[in-house]
Amino acid sequence: MRKTVAPFPKTRLRRLRSTPAVRGLVRENSLSAQDMIWPVFLVAGENIRQPIPSMPGVERLSVDLVVEAAEMAAGLGISAICLFPYTAQNLKTEDCAEAWNPDNLTNQAIRAIKARVPDIAVMTDIALDPYNINGHDGYVVEGKIVNDETVAALVKMGLAQAEAGADILGPSDMMDGRIGAIRDALEGAGHRDVAIMSYSAKYSSSFYGPFRDAVGASGGLKGDKNTYQMDPANGDEALRLVERDLAEGADMVMVKPGMPYLDICRRVKDAFGVPTFAYQVSGEYAMIEAAVANGWLDGDKVMMESLMAFKRAGCDGILTYFAPRAAKLLKENG
Ligand code: PBG
Repeated sequence: MRKTVAPFPKTRLRRLRSTPAVRGLVRENSLSAQDMIWPVFLVAGENIRQPIPSMPGVERLSVDLVVEAAEMAAGLGISAICLFPYTAQNLKTEDCAEAWNPDNLTNQAIRAIKARVPDIAVMTDIALDPYNINGHDGYVVEGKIVNDETVAALVKMGLAQAEAGADILGPSDMMDGRIGAIRDALEGAGHRDVAIMSYSAKYSSSFYGPFRDAVGASGGLKGDKNTYQMDPANGDEALRLVERDLAEGADMVMVKPGMPYLDICRRVKDAFGVPTFAYQVSGEYAMIEAAVANGWLDGDKVMMESLMAFKRAGCDGILTYFAPRAAKLLKENG
C-alpha cells in the first residue's frame, strides 16, 4: 500500500529530477524500436510512390519499394510491418473475392518481404473494406452488415495471407466469432505458428478518416460502421471483447484508436496481463503533423512523448506511422 508522503522537506520529489543521470535511474518506462509496428500502404505497379495528402510524410508504395522500406525498418530494429492495400476500383466487388486472391497486392507483398527481409515480422489486416464496393468491413445484405457470411469470407482471406507467409494476422472487422473461426482454420491447415493480433477493442471512430483516403475506401463508404465497431462511450464492453477474443484463440489484443483511449489500454493490461497493443491511427498522426506544419508543436518531441504515453498506459507495443522516424531518432540518441 502507498503510505502518506512524509512532509516537506524530508520528501522533496524534485531531488530525483535534479540531473539527467538520476532521472534516467528512476525512469519507469522505456521506448524502443522493438516496440513498434509500422503500418504501410501498398499500391500496384513498380517504382511507385504516391503521397497521401491527409497524411503528410506517408506514401503508398509499390511492392518493390515496400521491400526496400521493410529492409530499412528491419535495419532500424523495428519488429514488424503491417500491410494495407490500396485497391483499384475495378477490383472491388460485392463478393470481395480479391480479398482471398493468392496474388492480390497484400499477398504479393508478404511473399516479397519474407523472401528478402526474413527478420521483420509481417502483419496483415483482415477485413473486407479494401475490396468491398460499399466500403464496409463485412458483407452488406439488404442494408445490413451480415455477420456469419462475413466470417466465412474473412477465414478465406486469413488463410491466403498465412499461405503467403504472414507472421501475424490482424482481424480488424469486429464481426462476432471471427477469431475462433480463423484460429480453427489455421490449425486445420497446419499454420500452427501464425499469430493472431485481434483488433479487439476497435471503436467506431472519426479518427480513421485519412486512412480511408489512403486505401481508397472513403468515397464508396455508405453510412457508418456503428453496428459493428464500438461506441466511444463504452469501456466495460472493451474488456468483454478482449476476454472473448482471448478465449477464441487470440495471442495478442489491440485497442484502437490510441491516444483518446489510453484508459482502455490500461484497463485491458491490468485485467488480463496479455500482450496489449495500441494503434495510433491516421487521424492522430494527421493532427500532430498539421500542428507541426503550422509551427505550433515540436514534431520530434511530441512524437516521442505520444509514443511513451502508450508504454506508460501499459501497452507492449504501438502500431504507428511514426515508426521509422521515431526509430531513427532513438538510434541517433543512442
Ligand atoms: C479496416 C481498418 C481501418 C483502420 C485499420 N484497418 C479503418 C476502418 O475501420 O474504417 C484504420 C487505421 C487508421 O486510421 O490509421 N478495417
